Amino acid sequence: MLILGIETSCDETGVALYDPAAGGLLAHTVHSQVAMHEAYGGVVPELASRDHVRRLIPLCRGLFRDTGRSPDELGAVAYTEGPGLIGALLVGAAFARGVAFALGVPAIGIHHLEGHLLSPLLAKRAPQFPFVALLVSGGHTQLMRVDGVARYALLGETQDDAAGEAFDKTAKLLGLGYPGGPALSQLAESGIPGRYRLPRPMIASGDLEFSFSGLKTAVLHLVRGADPSAQFQADVARAFQDAIADVLATKCTQAMDQTGLTRLVVAGGVGANRQLRALLDAQASRHGYDVFYAEPELCTDNGAMIAFAAALRLRAGARTVSRDAHGFSVRPRWALASLEAI
Ligand code: KG4
Ligand code: ZN
Repeated sequence: MLILGIETSCDETGVALYDPAAGGLLAHTVHSQVAMHEAYGGVVPELASRDHVRRLIPLCRGLFRDTGRSPDELGAVAYTEGPGLIGALLVGAAFARGVAFALGVPAIGIHHLEGHLLSPLLAKRAPQFPFVALLVSGGHTQLMRVDGVARYALLGETQDDAAGEAFDKTAKLLGLGYPGGPALSQLAESGIPGRYRLPRPMIASGDLEFSFSGLKTAVLHLVRGADPSAQFQADVARAFQDAIADVLATKCTQAMDQTGLTRLVVAGGVGANRQLRALLDAQASRHGYDVFYAEPELCTDNGAMIAFAAALRLRAGARTVSRDAHGFSVRPRWALASLEAI
């Protein structure tokens, strides 16, 4: 069955075509709105919604053109139902439901984090269930136990800022623009390890909860009134990245011990961070577990993960929206662990 996936939860318009019978992912395209929001130092929700409206049709046309497939072949349309910005979600949902209705095929609403969580299964080296998943994005930092599609249990999560948010806010303090995660991590590569040491919040809390807002404040104290040389900036970036990677990797190892599972899956934008990956790989070989990552281009928001999650859900027998149902809603706030088993 050919599935069209639509992702519009925040500032990326992602579209994809997925066909399990034709090799899986056929094509996916992401339009990032970063350049548009940069001037404001963060995402402006109304601008995000309007840009999704502008991009969806040309992006989907491009998908069909590039793959030689036709909308008439679609068996289902999947879209991000939540969580995310309400206006942005409504654009994707309205578009997807409209396409599904016009073609007389079912639509299926997908949880954005389920998309991230399952995206490592699209990689060449894919994990088997069950596994522990570390979800580290701009809006979420969670450790989940995953026993199968739609079988998720929350092990621990951040009490305040998400890891990506901490990267972005710290990058802003260092004048690196928005979103600063990738820029900060690049700057950290030229920083001297150990030149500064920042706190590792909640690293010894004994549970799987996180807290990152204090880290940003510690950076603020460090940079206030300091010499703004390029090397100083790089050293601070390195100290920040060391602290955050240390906390994330330590809690992952604790989660592996606690659950007794042997596979760790890393998903979400911060999962692209090279230093975090290196540290996780080192801890994994020391503690005897395997780590699996999403392909770098599928770590950040994309339509492929939405189409793929829909394919797995449909195969597991998930219900779709009736093709006659005209009303729809989105869920800006939606806990992943509240998803019912199929
Ligand atoms: O998963 P994602 O695309 O969007 C959300 O669902 O939030 O994650 C975006 C986040 C941003 O905070 C961005 O700064 C961060 O992921 N990010 C990184 C890196 N690449 C993206 N953070 C650290 N290192 C990176 N290489
Ligand atoms: Zn995301």
